[in-house]
Amino acid sequence: MAQFDLIILGPPGAGKGTQASGIVETYGVPHISTGDMLRDAVKNQTAMGLEAKKYMDKGELVPDEVVIGIVRDRLQQPDTSKGFLLDGFPRTIPQAEALDQMLAGIERNVGKVIAILVNDEALVKRLTGRRICRDCQAPVHVVFNPPKVEGICDKCGGELYQRDDDTEATVRNRLEVYRQQTEPLIEYYDKQSVIARIDGDQAPGAVLEDVKAAIGPVL
Ligand code: AP5
Ligand code: MG
Repeated sequence: MAQFDLIILGPPGAGKGTQASGIVETYGVPHISTGDMLRDAVKNQTAMGLEAKKYMDKGELVPDEVVIGIVRDRLQQPDTSKGFLLDGFPRTIPQAEALDQMLAGIERNVGKVIAILVNDEALVKRLTGRRICRDCQAPVHVVFNPPKVEGICDKCGGELYQRDDDTEATVRNRLEVYRQQTEPLIEYYDKQSVIARIDGDQAPGAVLEDVKAAIGPVL
């Protein structure tokens, strides 16, 4: 049992990225966000990034084999030896099965899946008002969580920008894709008895307290 082999799951805008910074600070595990890794590949204009962007801009999922390959490589890095926080992966049943196989190969298994639940109308408001740091990718919100200086990241001083997939039409498609392809993972992990359902409709600090209670004390 790997208590700190963690997954944060939830619809677009649930607060996965927001909560991830508090979780990795508390438990000292690396934050592995497939969305951030794909956006890096887009920024660097790699062949994979340019291909992935076609799916991302429409709010569709990048093909399983591409994302599974990215995660397989990342989990081989030594900083994952004591645990990790996966954000945005797995997102389909085949991805979850591939992850189970990868972990079984190193005699580990998923320790806890944190499912952050928020209603759809709140999600649309969160995403259309979100800004992201170009350098450290930390999210803020123009109304709910504004930066101290407009347009500048509080954490690293980087420039804030709006993600190409945060338009209302794309957000609604991302929510639909989530319901169809990703939500079934809640039942998948229920069967493994590793899921913790967290009410994401609270202030970020209150959500983090519930998340930490679900994961358990730092060793
Ligand atoms: P990804 O980057 O994973 O995006 P997502 O799942 O759509 O989730 P978001 O990052 O939009 O939301 P979040 O939950 O992190 O919320 P955040 O903390 O920022 O994926 C993007 C795309 O990449 C996908 O569509 C797909 O194309 C591709 N992709 C990635 N992984 C893939 C995979 N495994 N397979 C295939 N394709 C993949 O918060 C949102 C906003 O709300 C912020 O403004 C924040 O300040 C605010 N906020 C946060 N918490 C609160 C709160 N408690 N109260 C009020 N406001 C809050
Ligand atoms: Mg995110």
